[in-house]
Amino acid sequence: MKISRRKLLAYSVLGLAVKPVLAALPSNDGVRRLSLVLREEQRNWFDDIEHQINVWGFGQDLLRLRQGEPVEIEVWNSLPVPSTVHWHGFRIENAMDGVSGLTQAPIPAGERFTYRFTPSDAGTFWAHSHHKTYEQLARGLYLPIIVEENSPVDVDQDIHLAIDDWRINQSKQLDLESLGAMHEWAHGGRLGNFLTVNKQVRPKYIVKAGSRVRLRLLNTANARIFAVNVPVKATWILSKDGQPLVTPKPLDESLLLAPAERYDLAIDIPQDARGNIPIQMPTDSGPIDMALLEVVGTVQNVRGYPPIALPSNSLEEVGFINEPKISTVLDMQGGAMGSLRQAIYDGKNMSMQELIQHKQIWAFNGVANRPVAPLLEVRSGDVVEIDIRNNTGWAHSMHLHGHHFKAELPRYSSGIWHDTLLMDSKENAKIRFVAGKPGSWLLHCHMIEHQAAGMVSWIKVVS
Ligand code: C2O
Ligand code: CU
Repeated sequence: MKISRRKLLAYSVLGLAVKPVLAALPSNDGVRRLSLVLREEQRNWFDDIEHQINVWGFGQDLLRLRQGEPVEIEVWNSLPVPSTVHWHGFRIENAMDGVSGLTQAPIPAGERFTYRFTPSDAGTFWAHSHHKTYEQLARGLYLPIIVEENSPVDVDQDIHLAIDDWRINQSKQLDLESLGAMHEWAHGGRLGNFLTVNKQVRPKYIVKAGSRVRLRLLNTANARIFAVNVPVKATWILSKDGQPLVTPKPLDESLLLAPAERYDLAIDIPQDARGNIPIQMPTDSGPIDMALLEVVGTVQNVRGYPPIALPSNSLEEVGFINEPKISTVLDMQGGAMGSLRQAIYDGKNMSMQELIQHKQIWAFNGVANRPVAPLLEVRSGDVVEIDIRNNTGWAHSMHLHGHHFKAELPRYSSGIWHDTLLMDSKENAKIRFVAGKPGSWLLHCHMIEHQAAGMVSWIKVVS
């Protein structure tokens, strides 16, 4: 199944809601102390006010941190089930990575866990549950994170759009019965039928004519690939997955955003703009407005120059010229219409039929789900190459924890960093990175049903 705009559904776009943005509180010893509460919350997505929908969240819709500033985040679990928090895209200590069953035990219902780390990179990141993720992410357990640069960025405004799709049933609640449906796990994952941005329906943000806006895009959906159109000619890509491009790149077509990918854009609102500028998702039945930029007023001084690159986060460079120190192949297998006949699961060789009984249908190198032994064991500082081969009939969104990597694929501009990579059916990519902090780092498909159904491995970094 090739990536196709045709699979993008039409959404009904109803009311409008506004939620406050909470900022972190400073402390006096240089450590910023915060608390987050994992809990059920209500949203007004439908016209009739009695139809509030129950979702899960972090008690706030955005977290702002600062580059280089240590934080201590106390996470209270007020949900009726265990959970964890994974800090997606952060290059932090492995013990803080939040992977249930690998880097920590899940936080029991009613208890808390303190995450301590220092964000080394400024940019757009996010946090989400990494325990029973296919259910907890679908219920909304995610939080966009902005890590602020140490020096001011040359823009007038900073707007983030966390795009999600939800499966809503006829009683206008989350369709929880369909969670875990094996048919979807074997195909493109669990797609929704209702679109939100920042957990709101078609939110509107005020911008000024002639201003430069930083627009941060984030795909928080379980499985859907979004196409995004910005109908303003003067638009550039500033960064991908939290890492700045060396030179901002003009954006002249619609942007594909696979699950967990982020893009920061710079948009120069035209001086003669009036009314609403829609941020759109193209579909077969015409574009859908996901969010609106409402032009009110005009700036005095219009910039006469293209955007300046964001300050680099100084990652250790990896080229494609020299041979990597360590390399391996990752063969992605399985799924509907695939040729996988057997795989190892839980240490046993199983037929497809047995695998399906265990809700497994995908494999990496003949192993379904996280193997006992890592895909690779490397030393911190080693240059590593993983030759990922998508031998399946489906697109995947490959994510490596705790690292950013380089990969050359035609849909991306050359030389950029990723922590998540969209790979189409039958597409291959060599990812290269410098092994980072010691520990166990997951490598998995971020179409979360694929991860749950087998697409997950890990690398071990030793010092
Ligand atoms: Cu965004 Cu394994 O995670
Ligand atoms: Cu996948």
